[in-house]
Amino acid sequence: MSLTEKRQIGSKKVMPFTIPSGIITTEPSCLERIAREIPELGVLTTKSIGSEPRVGNREPILAQYIPRGFVNAVGLTNPGAEEFAKKLSTIAFPPDKFLLASIFGKDESEFVFVARTLEKYVDGFELNLSCPHAKGYGMQLGQDKDVVGKITQSVVHSVKKPVFIKLTPNAGNIGEIAKAAIDSGAYGIVAINTVGPGYYSIDGLPVLTNKVGGISGTGITPLGLRCVRDIRQAVGENIPIIGMGGIKNATDVGAYAAAGADFFGIGSALAGMEEIEIKNYFFALIGDINNNCRTNNAENLLKQVDMHYRKVKIEEKIDSSCDFKVIRTNETLTAEPGQFIFAWIPEVGEKPLSVMDDRPLTLGVLERGEFTRKLNSLRKGDCFYIRGPYGKKLNINFNLDTVLVGGGCGIAGLTLIARRAAKRLNNKRLVILLGAKDKEHIPYLDVFKEYGEVLVATEDGSLELKGKVTDLFEKAKLTKECYFFNCGPEKMIDAVIPLELNISRSQLIYSSLDFMTKCGVGLCGSCATKDGRRLCVDGPFMAGV
Ligand SMILES: Cc1cc2nc3c(=O)[nH]c(=O)nc-3n(C[C@H](O)[C@H](O)[C@H](O)COP(=O)(O)O)c2cc1C
Ligand code: FES
Repeated sequence: MSLTEKRQIGSKKVMPFTIPSGIITTEPSCLERIAREIPELGVLTTKSIGSEPRVGNREPILAQYIPRGFVNAVGLTNPGAEEFAKKLSTIAFPPDKFLLASIFGKDESEFVFVARTLEKYVDGFELNLSCPHAKGYGMQLGQDKDVVGKITQSVVHSVKKPVFIKLTPNAGNIGEIAKAAIDSGAYGIVAINTVGPGYYSIDGLPVLTNKVGGISGTGITPLGLRCVRDIRQAVGENIPIIGMGGIKNATDVGAYAAAGADFFGIGSALAGMEEIEIKNYFFALIGDINNNCRTNNAENLLKQVDMHYRKVKIEEKIDSSCDFKVIRTNETLTAEPGQFIFAWIPEVGEKPLSVMDDRPLTLGVLERGEFTRKLNSLRKGDCFYIRGPYGKKLNINFNLDTVLVGGGCGIAGLTLIARRAAKRLNNKRLVILLGAKDKEHIPYLDVFKEYGEVLVATEDGSLELKGKVTDLFEKAKLTKECYFFNCGPEKMIDAVIPLELNISRSQLIYSSLDFMTKCGVGLCGSCATKDGRRLCVDGPFMAGV
């Protein structure tokens, strides 16, 4: 059978590709979108779901140790089986897709509970007996063939859907464990999960907050191939194997097929890619396979992401208010309007921050939790680390009037757009509407005034209009179709969009929402919007949010 033909899995015949668990399609909205947009993905794998909600580890959760090679410790973040079932119940997946629910638990009863809770909404299960960095879960159970056998048997007897077992390469004899799973009723095997755990440090400091994490991507392919080969030899011919681990091109797919895999998972290689780029990648991959690897178009479409950290020094700190500081560093960047960086303080955490100015790098930091409190407590001369910039370039030619709407800490994300728009607007208006609780929370006001017409609303009336940013629309006298760029809390964005739709079209209204941006390179999926786009690669400014 050709590697690009549909094949049987459970009761369905589907294309043989998937994005492995925990990568990109971690939110149901993203699963749905990818299912609709990418025909080559026949198997859709969910993130690992447990019986209870888990917040997971504090960021950094992902580090890059070589090009296309990563260490991650997401920490099994998930909303819990019941909440996830509710989300899945609202989605209609195309019939030619096999929805594979990855599930985890600390014992048989937890696995059974999760499987039963999700059964109605999915086509099959992948039991995560292989995560290498979560205490009491995953690999700690999956290295013992008797435990694997027992858990497999309990789940197989409790549900009517096919059950796959996802195995760890960190086991003495992976073939023996796979055989125990199949003898206990498993339908198929998935291999490999991440390797290790490994440890990665900068200046001697562990990057991951969890300190250790599973290794994925480039570098683990030979291990993945050996494991798949061992599994195939142990389980015989007719058991489906989903092979993964460092696959990046048609040659790797061919190698996994030769080792014994029937389906192929491609995860880490997709780092940094927008949805359309992933779509083009899978299309090209089919072409390369059909050309017997004489072409390598798919690999040429992959991106190189840059997650390396630089140490920066604070040159100046302006205490705008007790909880809002402007931090000017010694670092010079080239950032596009709307882009953001990650700031990392070892042992404390990492957060995304808008670039207020790139030359030198200047950040506006509103205290919202432990990390921002710590960053704001640093003094002139102190150092922290940054990586980036991240986010998509805004391809706007500013041929219409342009209105920037900022609220709270979102104001910091508008400065570079204001500068770009001011340079390009020719006889067009640049209107900047800013709202904050008081005058101390409106940074860079003088700079904004140099660029355009600025109107301010403060909740306490300490500057200009007493009220909210929505109250400024009438005063701004916006009558013709124009661009809008909104940056601020979700509540503000929800309030301004209806006003903007009275004036302009949704395609011209761009918003940057404050979603949970964790990895910044499109892999963890935590920044998914309600319609399944990922803010860190498809945004942060997106139209039609
Ligand atoms: C950010 C990230 C999160 C992951 N989360 C999970 C997970 O929740 N459950 C799981 O079984 N595997 C998880 N994995 C492992 C992948 O599913 C896959 O087995 C592994 O990354 C090897 O494939 P790759 O080299 O193509 O990425 C994760 C990997 C990454 C990089
Ligand atoms: S996918 Fe990880 S933050 Fe966007």
